[in-house]
Amino acid sequence: MQDKVVVVVGATGGIGRAVVQRLQPLGAKLVLAARRGERLQALGVPGALCIPTDITVPAQVEQLMSQAVHTLGRIDVLVNAAGAGVFKSWDKLTPEDLASQLAVNLQGNFYAMQAAAQVMKTQRSGHICNVIGILGKHTMPLAAAYCASKFGAVGATKVLADELRRYNIKVTLFYFGGVDTPFWDNITLKVDRSKMLRPETAADAIVYALQVEPAAVPMEVNIQPESHLFI
Ligand SMILES: NC(=O)c1ccc[n+]([C@@H]2O[C@H](COP(=O)([O-])OP(=O)(O)OC[C@H]3O[C@@H](n4cnc5c(N)ncnc54)[C@H](OP(=O)(O)O)[C@@H]3O)[C@@H](O)[C@H]2O)c1
Repeated sequence: MQDKVVVVVGATGGIGRAVVQRLQPLGAKLVLAARRGERLQALGVPGALCIPTDITVPAQVEQLMSQAVHTLGRIDVLVNAAGAGVFKSWDKLTPEDLASQLAVNLQGNFYAMQAAAQVMKTQRSGHICNVIGILGKHTMPLAAAYCASKFGAVGATKVLADELRRYNIKVTLFYFGGVDTPFWDNITLKVDRSKMLRPETAADAIVYALQVEPAAVPMEVNIQPESHLFI
């Protein structure tokens, strides 16, 4: 990863932060994005470019990628690790709940891939790591809006993987089960966070996928907690 330019979207989150902590000692040149700039600065990563970005706004995503290229010359890797969860019974979900889930987990996730891929296409190389979650593959009660956004993101990502292969751009989908991060802080589901995956486990899987030999593409990575999480 030495001198590879890596854009981490959702860098201040549990998974994003763990990825940053793994990549920094490997010599990657890091571009860190999330909405709240003060939290990006508080990560205290020496030499990192911190660019406050709301991925639901396409112009901000364009600005993120163009600033990364302007400053560092290229984008080798996008780690897409921004998102949020709303978990409610089907009859309690509001139009705003559905819109906000689709805006960040589906549309924003897509805008980030699209803008990074435009850069990678001109380079004829790149790797997109898309952190989806197991609820992009399996359903769960109370997760209609979240699953809709994540299943949609899986569909879009797989199409991009097909379309981008000709430009030598790798795309990997990550289906982690519950990861103990601030994602769960305001969620009222009865889950045992001590049984969840650690963010470092998720980060190790992402770093592994990035270091697979150039001739191979890890298409999908699925890691689950050993124990049942629900209390
Ligand atoms: N935790 C789990 O159990 C789990 C499991 C599988 C998959 N996932 C998925 O993995 C991703 C990361 O999850 P996490 O557990 O690391 O969550 P987290 O700790 O809550 O972090 C979320 C990150 O996304 C950023 N973010 C949220 N909305 C954004 C927006 N509109 N634009 C830009 N950045 C935004 C947040 O920063 P700001 O609020 O400052 O923008 C933060 O950096 C999510 O997509 C989640 O669905 C999570």
